[in-house]
Amino acid sequence: MHVWLSSVLVTAGFFCATAIAVSSTNSSGFVASDGSLSFALNVPQDNGSDELYFSLVGDSSCSWLAFGMGSQKMKDSLTFMVYSDASGKNVTVSPRLVYDHSEPTYTNNVTITVLPGTKIDGNTTTLNAKCSNCRAWKGGSVDPTNTAANLIFATGPSGNLNTNSLTADIKRHASYGVFQMDLTKSVGAAGVPNITTSNSAGVKELKDQADHDVSAPLHACLMIIAFVGLMPLGVLILRVLNSPKWHGINQTLSFLLALIGAFLGLSVGTMYNRTKGFNTAHQIIGIIVIMMMIGQFVLGFMHHRMYKKTQAPTKLSPYHIWLGRVVIPAGIINGFLGFPLALVPKYDFALLALVLLLIIVLLPFAFWRYRRNIQKAKTVNSNSVTGYQSRPWENQTAQNDINLNQMNYPPHYGKQGYGR
Ligand code: HEM
Ligand SMILES: *[C@@H]1O[C@H](CO)[C@@H](O)[C@H](O)[C@H]1NC(C)=O
Ligand SMILES: *[C@@H]1O[C@H](CO)[C@@H](O)[C@H](O)[C@H]1NC(C)=O
Ligand SMILES: *[C@@H]1O[C@H](CO)[C@@H](O)[C@H](O)[C@H]1NC(C)=O
Ligand SMILES: *[C@@H]1O[C@H](CO)[C@@H](O)[C@H](O)[C@H]1NC(C)=O
Ligand SMILES: *[C@@H]1O[C@H](CO)[C@@H](O)[C@H](O)[C@H]1NC(C)=O
Ligand SMILES: *[C@@H]1O[C@H](CO)[C@@H](O)[C@H](O)[C@H]1NC(C)=O
Repeated sequence: MHVWLSSVLVTAGFFCATAIAVSSTNSSGFVASDGSLSFALNVPQDNGSDELYFSLVGDSSCSWLAFGMGSQKMKDSLTFMVYSDASGKNVTVSPRLVYDHSEPTYTNNVTITVLPGTKIDGNTTTLNAKCSNCRAWKGGSVDPTNTAANLIFATGPSGNLNTNSLTADIKRHASYGVFQMDLTKSVGAAGVPNITTSNSAGVKELKDQADHDVSAPLHACLMIIAFVGLMPLGVLILRVLNSPKWHGINQTLSFLLALIGAFLGLSVGTMYNRTKGFNTAHQIIGIIVIMMMIGQFVLGFMHHRMYKKTQAPTKLSPYHIWLGRVVIPAGIINGFLGFPLALVPKYDFALLALVLLLIIVLLPFAFWRYRRNIQKAKTVNSNSVTGYQSRPWENQTAQNDINLNQMNYPPHYGKQGYGR
């Protein structure tokens, strides 16, 4: 009897409290048409208030969820990025400003108070929050009388950031969109707004689309095709097929691919806070490698032109060969620095597998060449053989003076033979 009575009272009290909440808090709700997130906003009516209350519910498999205010573009928006905190059970809310089509940058100009009900539970992330100093920022403001205020939203690709850092590094969005809200409908007494299951009156979505940006993966693919695939292949073409012509064609192609890849990399670098200073190891080494590669291309080209004129090896070829021996491994090593920078460090294992495969493919050729060179060293010493001189200095006489007419191909390893 007692229990029954108290539950009636508690229930009545609950409804009573709810009734008060309903009658006193106006809010507007938005539901993204792709179902990725829902958002509700309350603009406290008190004059002079600089506060906003909002609620955001979304798919917790996304590495981040975000909304922004002020514009139909990222530019000039005040955004709020929500991601899992270190415990994985609650959220980190990072207010960020955007000046461009690039990763928003943390601002400490606004104050977020995370409120009860906030959690990461199963597949759902829920945020209830109050934001202070939130109605004006560099680039925009919230006008409670605006009947078509612009807002944006976006979701990150799947993953968990699990960090308390307000400046956490993130990947670019998986989907993004734009919506409008009649803010006059969300003006009311201060309080956490309710998430709705469909758009409230005065709320409409203008855009909701998947982000199909491939510039970063394409950058990685082109570089790997060039440095792990084509460039070593070009060495084989010269050494095994003995074809300087196809070596040149192949290396021109790999040079062009790597150049396109470099421009893609430069453009990707402008998008993230961690890379827009262009001072990470990957970017610095990358720029050096690309400059060396341009040098390598020019050297190879000039060497070949001089060779065609004289039908004799040139002074440039040792530089070409040694620069090539530095550039290709440096480019490959730089790939291992690129994946962690793109927040996909596990791809380093795939790259490692490719490099091991390359070594396995190259080993028999190296062995074959080693055997052949030993043979040649025994027989060729005195013979003059014509052909393409890829390593003329190997045959230099002790005077250090290159006598072009004495050059042999294939090279022999006498006392001055290099590398042994
Ligand atoms: C690493 C972080 C981010 C990067 C690198 C980035 C980059 C970009 C780029 C390059 C575009 C242009 C896409 C195109 O025109 O094809 C774009 C569009 C867009 N992004 Fe982001 N974004 C990031 C984070 C965010 C966040 C946090 C939001 C939401 C709060 C957002 C919302 C939007 C929206 C609504 C658009 C379409 C409107 C526009 O062109 O500005 N983005 N983003
Ligand atoms: C808020 O949600 C509760 C249920 O959680 C509901 O009873 C109440 O009517 C809602 N209030 C508004 C203003 O939508
Ligand atoms: C709030 O501001 C409006 C004008 O901005 C004014 O008309 C109104 O009297 C103010 N209300 C209070 C309670 O201060
Ligand atoms: C998350 O943090 C907020 C603010 O500290 C708190 O009110 C809420 O209860 C927390 N949620 C969980 C599941 O711990
Ligand atoms: C939520 O996650 C569970 C597994 O953890 C899955 O079976 C279920 O389909 C998910 N629900 C939604 C709506 O994604
Ligand atoms: C910081 O807040 C003040 C007061 O609302 C605002 O005028 C200023 O533009 C803000 N600064 C930035 C960088 O957003
Ligand atoms: C809620 O909005 C209606 C108009 O849409 C308004 O009449 C009412 O006063 C508002 N409630 C509060 C508490 O401001």
